[in-house]
Amino acid sequence: MLTPTFWEIHSGLEREGPGDEASLMRALAMTEGLPAEPRILDLGCGPGAQTLSLLKHTAGTVTAVDTHQPFLDDLMSRARDAGVADRVTTSDASMADLPFEDESFDLIWSEGAIYFIGLPEGLAAWRRLLRPGGWIAVTEPCWLKPREALPQGALDNWAEYPAMATVQELEAVPARAGYRLAGSFVLPPAAWEAYYGPMQARVDVVRARHAGDAAALAEVARHQAEIDAYRAFGDCFSYLFLVMQRPA
Ligand SMILES: C[S@@+](CC[C@H](N)C(=O)[O-])C[C@H]1O[C@@H](n2cnc3c(N)ncnc32)[C@H](O)[C@@H]1O
Repeated sequence: MLTPTFWEIHSGLEREGPGDEASLMRALAMTEGLPAEPRILDLGCGPGAQTLSLLKHTAGTVTAVDTHQPFLDDLMSRARDAGVADRVTTSDASMADLPFEDESFDLIWSEGAIYFIGLPEGLAAWRRLLRPGGWIAVTEPCWLKPREALPQGALDNWAEYPAMATVQELEAVPARAGYRLAGSFVLPPAAWEAYYGPMQARVDVVRARHAGDAAALAEVARHQAEIDAYRAFGDCFSYLFLVMQRPA
């Protein structure tokens, strides 16, 4: 159950997960032969940082999907400010049950979100939405070291995601789900800073605002622990960008 303080921390942030424009461009450059005006599906779009970058770096249209309507409202407001609102459609739908026709997209994008249904499960379920030869790019949490080398603090930080895999293990998933892996890379520290920098500033404000409120401060402490875990153990985990193609 997400608390009011959770939403106080998470409202109005530019992004809701690690990522940055440079990494998006690196992944996008791997989608060889993408049409000039690709039909893009952005799943778990959040407030839409990557949606806006996709609209900036392609001439395509984006259908942006999330289950949290306030994020979709933020995204549309930013798209209007950027003058690209005519190329975005939002859909308050679940990535587990998508209301789109088979083969209706050239590119599926999903940053920091496929883990809600699992990487193999998401790749299998979304495949029908891509035209043959279409592309899919996702980011997925990954261990940067063998499990036996991971300190307890790193394991504790990801205790709620037991499916977390190593880079090598993740790179084997696309072929099993019927895709060709075109390339992959680990998100750099700058992509984490783009998420945790603004979140730290927000956490500091919310902590000061709720001095003496035990429930609110417990939520603040959970967020602080997550940021601190990255600062302490960021050499043990990250996200892997995987860029894949549905064979023609
Ligand atoms: C970690 S955030 C990442 C958001 C955005 N892609 C980014 O990188 O800033 C995950 C997003 O997935 C959304 N989400 C969670 N479960 C979902 C579902 N079943 N279907 C669609 N979106 C979902 C959340 O509301 C949230 O916006």
